Amino acid sequence: MRLQKYLADAGLASRRAAEELIRAGRVAVNGEIVIRLGTQVNPEADRVTLDGKVVRAKRRLYVALNKPRGYLCTKADPQGRRTVGQLLPHEWSNLYPVGRLDRDTEGLLFLTNDGEFCLRLTHPRYGVRKTYLAEIEGRAPADLVKRLTQGVTDEGDNLKAETAGVLDSSKTRSLVRLTLREGKYHEVRRLFTSLGIAVLALRRTEIGPIKLGELPLGKWRVLTTDEVKRLLRD
Ligand code: URA
Repeated sequence: MRLQKYLADAGLASRRAAEELIRAGRVAVNGEIVIRLGTQVNPEADRVTLDGKVVRAKRRLYVALNKPRGYLCTKADPQGRRTVGQLLPHEWSNLYPVGRLDRDTEGLLFLTNDGEFCLRLTHPRYGVRKTYLAEIEGRAPADLVKRLTQGVTDEGDNLKAETAGVLDSSKTRSLVRLTLREGKYHEVRRLFTSLGIAVLALRRTEIGPIKLGELPLGKWRVLTTDEVKRLLRD
């Protein structure tokens, strides 16, 4: 990894500011001052110091949470409402949610301290597929799948499902599985609302190749290195 990235990842400074520190001759690798930008370091083996003090590589952490309804995807809420951070161990207060689920949506949510991972999974440019189960009011109209996949325009946004399927339908409620790639604000609820359909409950079940699986509601698990790799490859 490049030295300036190592310093930035350690939470010491932005990458830009880290470059300044290097240029100023304040950074050493294994005891030798390094002023060349882009010098490669091995976080496992090299000893990096700033002004003589060791800079430890930050451990990157990737957590999957089954978010319950009623929890906000924010750090802290001024109104004192419950937040997803309260479901994780105290020492992980530096983790932040990768994208957001609405307060009333439950299901798979990742939290991390890795900014690049976060960007890679949420930026529409990368189009990571997310799968949702939506419980809607009433019998699903015969042309529902067609309308969901054709999409709608809502407040200037094109909202559409990449795939959709009705899993169950009765007079009072129906269950619809849909996948989207965009990650726009409230996209599933807005999509249904634009079609005149009320959403009774919404759950995210998959992000890229990772499934919610048996993870109980309100519980978390650490993603494996292999899962992180698969997500970044997706
Ligand atoms: N779409 C929504 O409407 N809400 C979510 O929480 C996620 C996707």
